[in-house]
Amino acid sequence: MTTIALITGANKGIGYETARLLGARGATVLVGSRDEERGHLAERALREGGADARYVPLDVTDEKSVRRAAEWIDTEYGRLDVLVNNAAIARGDGDGRPSGTKLETLRTVYETNVFGVVAVTNAMLPLLRRAPAARIVNVSSEVGSISSMTDPDSPLWPMASIPYPSSKSALNMITAMYAKELRDTPIKVNAANPGYCATDLNHNSGFRTAEQGAEVSVYLATLPADGPTGVLWGDLWTGAGTGTSGVLPW
Ligand SMILES: NC(=O)c1ccc[n+]([C@@H]2O[C@H](COP(=O)([O-])OP(=O)(O)OC[C@H]3O[C@@H](n4cnc5c(N)ncnc54)[C@H](OP(=O)(O)O)[C@@H]3O)[C@@H](O)[C@H]2O)c1
Repeated sequence: MTTIALITGANKGIGYETARLLGARGATVLVGSRDEERGHLAERALREGGADARYVPLDVTDEKSVRRAAEWIDTEYGRLDVLVNNAAIARGDGDGRPSGTKLETLRTVYETNVFGVVAVTNAMLPLLRRAPAARIVNVSSEVGSISSMTDPDSPLWPMASIPYPSSKSALNMITAMYAKELRDTPIKVNAANPGYCATDLNHNSGFRTAEQGAEVSVYLATLPADGPTGVLWGDLWTGAGTGTSGVLPW
């Protein structure tokens, strides 16, 4: 049976690479994109690379768009095997310190990174429950880890911004709560840390590639039955460097 995988924000960056890698493994990849032109371009590029890719209009902040995407997947496939909640934005104010945070910025970031994930997950859950063993991957970040962000020996210690890091902390809790609700089902729900990857999100300043980041999502999207659920998993960035993967502290 072909795996049906929906990736939100799949028109570029880590999401696009996730679609490409899952497509190369034989999955039908549903390329979520809020922009029609960018979605079609990504679909075409993925198809030219040999993947069975289909563009799905999906703005995670727009309830109607989310509902329509779920209805379309239901009509076309009747189930969903993999959901990668990848779409996110990063915003900050002033010099990035908590004292300069504008509520408007916080609301904008949470609409996509937090509320968008809950909206998409709840809309897709009936379809995921119909799959034999669905996987939900919430693309988080090590900057959402309170343990890492408060460790003076962590490379993340100098960072003290609220909007993006706290949105990923919320996402971590959301991941843990869905995993708890679904623990008696075959569905696994995990948070992925791609590591610091060069994408538009950080003006291409990351030292890992988008493909390396996507490998983390693919790993969690293809977990075997005895794999973990309810963990933050991915690239470990310590004072000694990066490049090893494992379970990270919340
Ligand atoms: N890059 C890193 O170092 C890094 C590290 C840790 C975690 N992450 C996480 O990795 C994921 C992918 O990020 P990236 O680095 O690949 O960033 P990116 O290149 O900026 O891609 C973000 C994607 O999300 C989409 N998106 C944004 N808002 C959306 C909305 N409302 N509805 C649907 N799609 C929306 C974007 O679409 P448009 O093209 O239309 O804007 C784009 O496709 C994010 O969850 C990010 O937080 C990244």
